[in-house]
Amino acid sequence: MSFKQVVEATPRVNRSELAVPGSSPHMFEKAARSAADVVFLDLEDAVAPDMKEEARRNVIEAINDIDWGDKTLSVRINGLDTPYMYRDVVDLLERCSERLDLIMIPKVGTAADVYTVDCLVTQIETAKGRKKRVGFELIIETALGMQNVHEIAAASPRNESLHFGVADYAASVRARTVKIGGVHPDYGVLTDPDAQGERAFFWADPWHYAIARMVVAARANGLRPVDGPFGDIRDPDGYRAAAKRAAVLGCEGKWAIHPSQIALANEVFSPSPQEVERARRILEAMEQAKREGKGAVSLDGRLIDIASIRQAQALVAKAEQIARLEGGD
Ligand code: GLV
Ligand code: MG
Repeated sequence: MSFKQVVEATPRVNRSELAVPGSSPHMFEKAARSAADVVFLDLEDAVAPDMKEEARRNVIEAINDIDWGDKTLSVRINGLDTPYMYRDVVDLLERCSERLDLIMIPKVGTAADVYTVDCLVTQIETAKGRKKRVGFELIIETALGMQNVHEIAAASPRNESLHFGVADYAASVRARTVKIGGVHPDYGVLTDPDAQGERAFFWADPWHYAIARMVVAARANGLRPVDGPFGDIRDPDGYRAAAKRAAVLGCEGKWAIHPSQIALANEVFSPSPQEVERARRILEAMEQAKREGKGAVSLDGRLIDIASIRQAQALVAKAEQIARLEGGD
């Protein structure tokens, strides 16, 4: 291990993150009763310019009045390039109860963007005597943000998670697609002809590099990487496949832009009972090896070593965290 210690952000279960437009208050109660781990009330792109003020009022009222149970509660503010952002931050921090857990900052481009919001939030928290420190979720969804993702991830002790905003990212890098996430028929690999002259085309994941890069920046700074939206709400299999790819790359969860996607995310990002059982057996086998003075042992015909212990410990810790949330303690 490096001498540098990575400090982990406040631990939270973040399998499913439900997006709810701030201009649709009729959806709030249902969101509060849903199985989403995190709910973010949106003041940004789901809200039309002439609804911004009303949405802000709705969101503040909802945070103060609705019983959100043990959900993590976040608000997506408007971007730093808009005339709404400062008022979003001031009103949220001055008027919301301490039930507000996180602020989500969209289209972060540089570490200074995070610094600016941190400065404002810190002033208001101090002036108002707020006890709970509000954390930050940062959306990486521009070429500039991706270029600076490592500095952004390290920009504030409030940072908790990085999110891949595939729709804006695609627009920013001028990717040839108008879909929100998922695959594309032009993005794949054509094999050379086999003995019969047959060629196969394998679709690949256009977002692999971007998600993997964000995951590295997040993990190197103790943050949770979270995959963003999947637009086709009538394609649960496509959603599940995208979520699984993100999970394999290290993400802890995925957005749900429709309530039907919540259960899919919770399913994909929860370790299965078999995985947890195997992880526990790895930890037991290593304990046994330690007692016997051995460095590495095999379990079910496969070598396990100290790295396997770290993987197993992370998996068991995650399973316990989820069990605590679902058990309600
Ligand atoms: C999310 O904000 C996205 O742009 O995908
Ligand atoms: Mg976006």
